[in-house]
Formats: sequence, C-alpha cells, structure tokens
Amino acid sequence: MLGYNEIFENNQQWLDEKKRTNEEFFEQLSKGQEPGYLYIGCSDSRVTAEDMMGANPGDIFVHRNVANLVPNNDASSASVIEYAVEHLRVKHVVICGHYFCGGVKAAMGSQDLGVLNPWLQNIRDVYRYHKAELDAISDEEDRYKRLVELNVQEQCLNLYKTAVMQKAKVENRMPEIHGWVFDISTGKLIDLKIDVNGVIDSMDGIFNLH
Ligand code: CO
Repeated sequence: MLGYNEIFENNQQWLDEKKRTNEEFFEQLSKGQEPGYLYIGCSDSRVTAEDMMGANPGDIFVHRNVANLVPNNDASSASVIEYAVEHLRVKHVVICGHYFCGGVKAAMGSQDLGVLNPWLQNIRDVYRYHKAELDAISDEEDRYKRLVELNVQEQCLNLYKTAVMQKAKVENRMPEIHGWVFDISTGKLIDLKIDVNGVIDSMDGIFNLH
C-alpha cells in the first residue's frame, strides 16, 4: 500500500519536476481551464484516466463512478456533462469502460449488494437490451468482456439523449462521442469506434428533444 506520508513527498517531487520544465506551470494553471475532452470512466483504481493517456493538468475534464455509467436520473454525472459541454465547450466526450470491471461482473451475478442494486440495475438493463447477442456467447469470460463493451455503447447513447447534447447538436457544436475500453491485462486503450450517430439514426427520432 502506498504510504500516507509518501503521498505528500511524491506530490512535492511532482510539483518540483513540473516547475523544472516550466517555472510558471501552476501559475498558468490557476488562470483557468480549457480542456478539449470530457472523460467519463470507472472509479477502479487500476484505470487511471490521465496517466494512461499521458495527459497533463488542464487537458481532461474527468468524471468517474462505478462502471462508468450515465444514468438519466443521476445529478452528479448530469452536472459534469452540463458544465463540460455547455460551459467548457469540450470538443470530445469519452466513455471509457474496462475489462475486468467489478461493477459489470457484479451485474452479471445474482447477489444483493444493497445500495449498489439500483446503480447496477443500469447494467442489467444493458444485458436485457442485448440478451440475444450475449446469451449466444458460450464462453463466460468473452460474454463478460462483450457486456463491458455494450455498456460503453449504451452510456454513449445515454449521453446523446441528454438535453445538453441535443441542444449542442441543433446549434452545430455537439462534441464527438467516443467509446473506449481499457484492457487492464495489457495496458492498452482501445477505441471501440462506436457509430453513435448510426445507432441514433436507427432510432428514428425517438430521443429528439428539439
Ligand atoms: Co470498473
């Protein structure tokens, strides 16, 4: 385990290093932010958003929760999306899932997890929408991985359904939506290249708000 005091020693080394390359680094940061990306990922300790992207402070606006969900009644993720899209005007929004996700795994099992139940029910619904495809995968590990990917796809759609994204769309400034998966076993970040617009077009205007 990372020692408690070690954290503050590491922080001092980190800020010294930043200042060695640019003395004004933190002073410039304090003036404001203009991140190009909103990243929504899992809280999992192994999926370190900025680290795996090689991103610097100021590059990415980040939201993390259990299993990278964007439920339509969740005020926390909704506030993050509103702020990032409407005020920061990010150019890209990323939903990043990961293989070996405990949240997705839990949603595939039959266990009462208390307050986590309604949260994980969102993933059980993803399973329900794609039951035929998932049930046809005989290998449990492969089915689990596919549910991770389909969950990312559903969250991309949930993102699109929000009023803030719909408004941005009619004003021709909608950020690009991307679905990614991080493979913990290899360290590889994978772009699922989800055709969000294609999937949405197939819904024939059901979710249009404008
Ligand atoms: Co996870």
